[in-house]
Amino acid sequence: MRRDFFTHSALQPKCGHKIALEAFVEKDGHVMEGVLRDDAGCWYPIIEGVPCFLRGDLRPDFEWFRKKYHLSEIGHVQSAQTDSGQQALTNKTFSDKWSRFKHYGLEPGHEKFLFEWYCKKLDVADIEALKQFYRDRNHVLEVGPGSGFNTQFIAQNTSGGVVALDISDAAFTTFQNTRHLPNCHVIQADLMDAPLRDESFDLIIADGVLHHTPDTKKAVFELFKKVKPDGQFFFYVYKKMGAAKRFCDEFIRSEFTKLSPEACYAACEGFTELGKELSKIDVKITLEKGVPILGIPPGEHNVQRLLYYNFVKCFWNDAFDFETNNMVNFDWYHPHNAWQHTEEEVAGWMKELGVSDFQFNVSNPNGISVLLTR
Ligand SMILES: C[S@@+](CC[C@H](N)C(=O)[O-])C[C@H]1O[C@@H](n2cnc3c(N)ncnc32)[C@H](O)[C@@H]1O
Repeated sequence: MRRDFFTHSALQPKCGHKIALEAFVEKDGHVMEGVLRDDAGCWYPIIEGVPCFLRGDLRPDFEWFRKKYHLSEIGHVQSAQTDSGQQALTNKTFSDKWSRFKHYGLEPGHEKFLFEWYCKKLDVADIEALKQFYRDRNHVLEVGPGSGFNTQFIAQNTSGGVVALDISDAAFTTFQNTRHLPNCHVIQADLMDAPLRDESFDLIIADGVLHHTPDTKKAVFELFKKVKPDGQFFFYVYKKMGAAKRFCDEFIRSEFTKLSPEACYAACEGFTELGKELSKIDVKITLEKGVPILGIPPGEHNVQRLLYYNFVKCFWNDAFDFETNNMVNFDWYHPHNAWQHTEEEVAGWMKELGVSDFQFNVSNPNGISVLLTR
């Protein structure tokens, strides 16, 4: 954490009003270990360069830190999450995933695939237009950055500043991948309980994040509050797929969410192999009728995609090695929270929020990419 974050205009502690910084260890312009205290007696540790604002049941056990720096005990604070138990289990998946795949999106070959996909998600023509999209934003918030590859890209291409917020240990990975960028700040916090002032951000990005919270709609509404009037908010959520896919997802998730991450990676390897082998044959078939009951439209289908979108997640992309492809399948099956939504549902949320300026960008069949202007 850079010292200037402590005076960041968006920072607003949850318990008190004023916040004070005490730095214990500093390195390369960052407070690597320290504490932020508010005037209500709450304190938030800074460990490995990342301030942690998690509260209640979601707050990690900081007893060792409290003893090390002779800090006061703080009373139990209720978590702002409706279901902090499910959120805590989901955090375990992502803490594990982002501790293993620290360079996702930053390795040769990843960039082209991921940023071309971002172009579709944000409906911009190409990578240059994507850079332009970020250029004049003063305050950007990326929620759930994972490895931080996109946070890094935004910080490198905006004239303003970026705050990245993640609830899991992904925050440490994002910090390591962005610590060299003076306009980037990383915090560990729950988006439902973020120490951030309302109407502070010109742009908020939450890509593949909100469906992993206990309630996607509440997460959308909570982040919407943080957008400045005329600011923009992009989120990508899973789309509700056909009945056969939902049936397989439900069954596989009911088994795989019980597994340790290690065992689940191993169990996913069969799906990854299936995706890899199907990709090799690169065969298309034409269905004149489609299968409406399963949501399969008529027309030409690549066989791997047909299986992938309508039956089982068996991701494969040649840009990634086997482990990274397998991680994408693990990411689908292991998190406890993984909701799917329809466009009608999301349009209903926009109506409730009073948002008329929004678009669904076409980026892939099993996701809904929403870009709204407040
Ligand atoms: C599937 S990863 C997506 C990472 C990244 N956006 C990407 O596209 O590669 C979901 C991320 O959301 C984070 N997350 C889940 N629930 C959250 C919450 N309530 N508050 C903040 N972050 C959350 C997870 O820790 C994880 O890093």
